[in-house]
Amino acid sequence: MLSNRRNWLRQMGLGALSIGASRLNGFASAPPAYIPRYNLADGQSVRLSSNENPYGPSPMARAAMSEYITASNRYSWQLGPDLITALAQKNNLTADHIILGAGSTQVLDLASRLAALNKGSFVMSFPTYPYWSATLENLGMKKISVPLTADKKNDLSAILKAIQPDTQLVYLCNPNNPTGTICNHEELVHFVEEASKKAWVLVDEAYIDFTSERSLSSLVNENKKLVIARTFSKIYGLAGARIGYAMAHPATIEQLSRMQSWPNGDISVVSTAAAIASLKDEKFVKETHALNQHARRYTIEQMERLNIPCIPSHTNFIYFSLANHQPDFFEQLKQNNILGTGIYEEQGKWSRITVGTLPEMQKLISAIDTAHA
Ligand SMILES: Cc1ncc(COP(=O)(O)O)c(C=O)c1O
Repeated sequence: MLSNRRNWLRQMGLGALSIGASRLNGFASAPPAYIPRYNLADGQSVRLSSNENPYGPSPMARAAMSEYITASNRYSWQLGPDLITALAQKNNLTADHIILGAGSTQVLDLASRLAALNKGSFVMSFPTYPYWSATLENLGMKKISVPLTADKKNDLSAILKAIQPDTQLVYLCNPNNPTGTICNHEELVHFVEEASKKAWVLVDEAYIDFTSERSLSSLVNENKKLVIARTFSKIYGLAGARIGYAMAHPATIEQLSRMQSWPNGDISVVSTAAAIASLKDEKFVKETHALNQHARRYTIEQMERLNIPCIPSHTNFIYFSLANHQPDFFEQLKQNNILGTGIYEEQGKWSRITVGTLPEMQKLISAIDTAHA
């Protein structure tokens, strides 16, 4: 336990503080540890692996979190409904269209479990965000994978064709992770209409705030087979706070809530307060949006200069091909303490990198530019 704590402190760049208990008291009043941890100046690793927001949580969320630490002895009887009301307002829906989860992973799980009640198969693109799908396979369902189009977009007509008589769920990530591509809104509306005649449709809008696209949220007023997952982990910078939500028809929310022992009850008071404050902090969202676009443009320009083709991205990550890159890219990252991802598609050696701050992306580019070696 003690050595875990020491490791943790060392990771935070605060190893010296682990020496004695009196010093640990000092730690309590030190600045938030996450700031030095990702600051290049301290020589720690640069995390470009999980599409986190390098600037968050927002100032208003941080203040709310500090305030609500002292309310953590109470369950979130009032705050949970407050957040649901705020989310309903933001999305032009009523409160009975919303269910909260500890991250959107939890609402993806709820929808998966609902779909799995009848066994059968489920359909998803390849590559796409896969982490919820293991639950379905573990529950005995068969996965049907549909390749993306040549320009790395979800192939909507191929997904529709792949639906089988026993298909219970169709998952669509828009914008798609890991490729950063988006679907045309009208085509998407048509797709949802068709697919939902045959199965549950789970649309994951984790990255929609980085785009200027419209959400599909208005469709849940009528469509009882559509579930839309959203998260506070990305543009709101609350990945570690674990908070997300689903939007669906009230009848569907009722069904989803039966998949959870305590519907809306899994999120801490501190995280709920952070989410409420984040929704009000429009300045932070705008700044993140602009900073992300700037750092993304820089990175794509530089990678293409280095003969690394990139797919145009609508998100806070970039999908790129290492087919022409001679040096060992992953070794270059490792040598420079940069965390990236792996290869998603062998054909073309496609990988993904998160857009961090501009200095982080400059560090990435100098790590992979052999002219600098
Ligand atoms: C498309 C997509 N959906 C859902 C998630 C999970 O997010 P959360 O932190 O809300 O569980 C991620 C996380 O990277 C993601 O990329």
